[in-house]
Amino acid sequence: MAEIFVVKASDFGEGDRRIVRAGQNEIGVFHHEGAYYAYANQCVHSGGPACEGVMIHKVLDVIGEDRTYQGQVFSDEMHFVCPWHGYEYELKTGICAGNRKLKLKKYDVVRRGDDIFVIA
Ligand code: FES
Repeated sequence: MAEIFVVKASDFGEGDRRIVRAGQNEIGVFHHEGAYYAYANQCVHSGGPACEGVMIHKVLDVIGEDRTYQGQVFSDEMHFVCPWHGYEYELKTGICAGNRKLKLKKYDVVRRGDDIFVIA
């Protein structure tokens, strides 16, 4: 295991992300709600750069008491979407929203002073 420098925390604001190289692989590092998350930048579908996709809140269907469809709303849960074919991942877990058996490889992130590292 190696610690790979990502960025200075002071340069990594809320909602930011960085892509770092770890040997032959890339890792996407996210700063979300005061915490850091890191995943392999390799989509489980066909290897696309999943961590570089758009970030969007999870969309929920609203079903009425009479079981009729009432529309959709955004939840508080943040997702990111692979730019190649749209596989969607939970930011806090790396689990694929469309198939919860699939997930991105997760990495630990550590902060030492103002430096942020990913463990790979
Ligand atoms: S490679 Fe990511 S959705 Fe296809």
